[in-house]
Amino acid sequence: MKKWFVLILLSFLTLMTVFAQSGEIEIFSWWTGGGEEAALLATIADFEQLYPNIKVINATVAGGAGTNAKAVLKTRMLGGNPPDTFQVHAGWELTDTYVIPGLMEPLTDYLKLWGAYDKFPSGLIDIVSYEGEVYSIPLTIHRSNVIFYNKKLFNEIGLTKEPETWQEFIAALDKAKASGYIPLAMGDKEKWEAGQIVENLMVAEFGAANYNALFNGELSFNDNRLDSALQKMVQLMNYVNVDHAALAWQEAARLLYDNKAVFNLMGDWAEGYFKELGWTPGEDFGWFELPGTQAVFVLISDTFGLPKNAPHRNNALIFLEYLASPRAQEIFNPIKGSIPGRVDANPGDDPYLIETAEDFRTLAISPSIVHGSAAPEAFVTSFNDAVNALVTTKNITQAKQMILWAAEDVGLLTD
Ligand code: GAL
Repeated sequence: MKKWFVLILLSFLTLMTVFAQSGEIEIFSWWTGGGEEAALLATIADFEQLYPNIKVINATVAGGAGTNAKAVLKTRMLGGNPPDTFQVHAGWELTDTYVIPGLMEPLTDYLKLWGAYDKFPSGLIDIVSYEGEVYSIPLTIHRSNVIFYNKKLFNEIGLTKEPETWQEFIAALDKAKASGYIPLAMGDKEKWEAGQIVENLMVAEFGAANYNALFNGELSFNDNRLDSALQKMVQLMNYVNVDHAALAWQEAARLLYDNKAVFNLMGDWAEGYFKELGWTPGEDFGWFELPGTQAVFVLISDTFGLPKNAPHRNNALIFLEYLASPRAQEIFNPIKGSIPGRVDANPGDDPYLIETAEDFRTLAISPSIVHGSAAPEAFVTSFNDAVNALVTTKNITQAKQMILWAAEDVGLLTD
């Protein structure tokens, strides 16, 4: 081959690479708030340092758990105006909303090309897959059956041991109440926060296998254990702050930081938030599983996928390869309070994250309802409405009926 031809070819290839690594990428998420935004921004900053010619457009729609973002995203996706990549929960939210309607590109071959396919636990790969193809890259492993507590107040009110049973938990809440503190900080302005408590109470009542069976169509929702979970939620309402319906999850978590409340049941993005506020895990705040769920890891995984017709497809692939790397996963997760999806990435050195990584490896996994993993969106919305009605009216029969209708509507067992 002539020298000049090789030179031209090489220059062409170099130009192609530079071209492929320039332009824009629009990343869509709902990470705008305390504890969430910081992780995203740190990751974007690192990416921009690696790829200085790619301009990141950080498109966000505020609202915990995607309360507002999900609808905006769906409209964009259905309207043929997708972002280049977007945050989506592993499980039904991904498959039912976007994959089955044919709006996503498979990523299996890319994951293999990047040497990342076998770096994720197979159970996680399963829930981001449909008909044998992977459709999104798992970035986070979050856990939702965690009760965080203010250590100073915990000691002050005379508690010496983390509650392990429901009775011990109620006794601890009673102590907090008697001492004039808000026993259980709750902020259910966006509904899902109360739904999240009920899903965890369901895990406690049913156990992981039976809870999972509800969503596999193997066990009917028409079960007394559902009544018990709802009953316990009503009981908890005796211990929450009166303004719960006006607060978002960060505002409720903040009641602990402000020494006003003792306990808060929240997904472990609250761990990221407490750290952002300046608290040290294990010193300023402690944690334990909701009693009855010690053997279970209620899983939420934030993932990123590639929509068909992404306007900057090459850049999206560069970003997804980056997100799948230990480097990105180790930057993002410790700030967020989550652990990496990749098994070979370091979870960080804070005691909460170390414990969570160990629990994820060893415990039974149950998918979250309100974070879109266990059931289709229609069920999630009705479930949250049912819990919201329960919180207001304390009418267990009505809430159960609403959940049964929701289950029936999406084809889950109700008799
Ligand atoms: C979840 C999401 C987390 C966190 C939380 C609160 O749905 O998976 O990453 O953002 O909502 O907004």
